[in-house]
Amino acid sequence: MAATDLERFSNEEKRNLSLGGHVGFDSLPDQLVSKSVTQGFSFNILCVGETGIGKSTLMNTLFNTTFETEEASHYENAVRLRPRTYDLQESNVHLKLTIVDAVGFGDQINKDERPIVEYIDTQFENYLQEELKIRRSLFNYHDTRIHVCLYFITPTGHSLKSLDLVTMKKLDSKVNIIPIIAKADTISKSELHKFKIKIMSELVSNGVQIYQFPTDDEAVAEINSVMNAHLPFAVVGSTEEVKVGNKLVRARQYPWGVVQVENESHCDFVKLREMLIRVNMEDLREQTHTRHYELYRRCKLEEMGFKDTDPDSQPFSLQETYETKRKEFLGELQKKEEEMRQMFVNKVKETEAELKEKERELHEKFEHLKRIHQEEKRKVEEKRRELEEEMNAFNRRKVAVETLQSQSLQATSQQPLKKDKDRKK
Ligand code: GTP
Ligand code: MG
Repeated sequence: MAATDLERFSNEEKRNLSLGGHVGFDSLPDQLVSKSVTQGFSFNILCVGETGIGKSTLMNTLFNTTFETEEASHYENAVRLRPRTYDLQESNVHLKLTIVDAVGFGDQINKDERPIVEYIDTQFENYLQEELKIRRSLFNYHDTRIHVCLYFITPTGHSLKSLDLVTMKKLDSKVNIIPIIAKADTISKSELHKFKIKIMSELVSNGVQIYQFPTDDEAVAEINSVMNAHLPFAVVGSTEEVKVGNKLVRARQYPWGVVQVENESHCDFVKLREMLIRVNMEDLREQTHTRHYELYRRCKLEEMGFKDTDPDSQPFSLQETYETKRKEFLGELQKKEEEMRQMFVNKVKETEAELKEKERELHEKFEHLKRIHQEEKRKVEEKRRELEEEMNAFNRRKVAVETLQSQSLQATSQQPLKKDKDRKK
């Protein structure tokens, strides 16, 4: 459709028509409900809070059941995320509930929030990968994205720990955070009031965005805005049942009295259950998809090079984006290849130069040795000549001496003869 047609079409007034009789599309909401009920729902809760703060107890209390639990040790090497999925049914509604525990969080100073962030991102990534598949099966996909993070605050009565603020700040763009003051029976009423105010002001001054119960739907706007003013909820968990009057109620029993979990003047447990399960569970699921996942998806796709519009504000087609990215990638690959080749050539040149230098050094050494050798040879030759001359001189002297000796011998042997002759005469 041409742009002008589009404009005319959207500018056309919509006409209201009345129906002559019952058509049946008023059953659409019922059809939706029926489809959703058949499909079932999934809800994923992340519990973050120090070891032994009462996470498992609160989950058991909230869902009125006993989930598998194992106590975490205080000596975990790192924070570890432990998801457990359960199938729950209430009336004809099936709920696939996943409770994820951040085991070991807050135990020692080196415990950080990174594994929690990574876990949340991994669930988003899995969902994105499923969406990007050619054959998607989102209909029966087990959605593990975290819908709510219950952040358990230690009831110190002082202020939030810096670890709490840092962690919540890191998580607030990725998940709906509902902060709760755990073990609220261990703090007095007036202290609790001050503590709540302090927590909220610290969250605001540190720019931590916590989940706000929505007030745009008229049906729940009033209750939600009242409940927003009660945050953070101060809760007490217990799976123990105590007889109060003639009724068995969930409570914690102390020597001085009983703290009833579901008594609104004792704690905010009922408010939390109302808000989390009965009123806003669907909003939490929706916010996860439309806000947090959307943000993750947008960043990830932009990182991958996808854009909605090109520099001239024209819509970008997926094909074009893919081609551009492919060209970019090939260009980079070629550049890298060229760099590698150049590096290789340089290396070869360097090695060649080194080898030549070594050869020259060796040659010089050889020449030097050769010179020394010749010098020595010459010296030896000279010595030999000298020795020969000495030998010749010696021989000459020897011959002369021998001649002299033989002459004197001759002379001495002739003398007696002469004497004899003289005597005979
Ligand atoms: P890990 O999973 O080991 O980190 O512990 P957790 O946070 O799941 O705590 P858990 O529910 O196991 O409770 C630890 C202890 O705290 C138990 O002895 C509970 O009875 C107690 N506890 C739980 N909730 C409350 C509470 O609201 N008030 C008080 N006073 N104690 C509680
Ligand atoms: Mg536990």
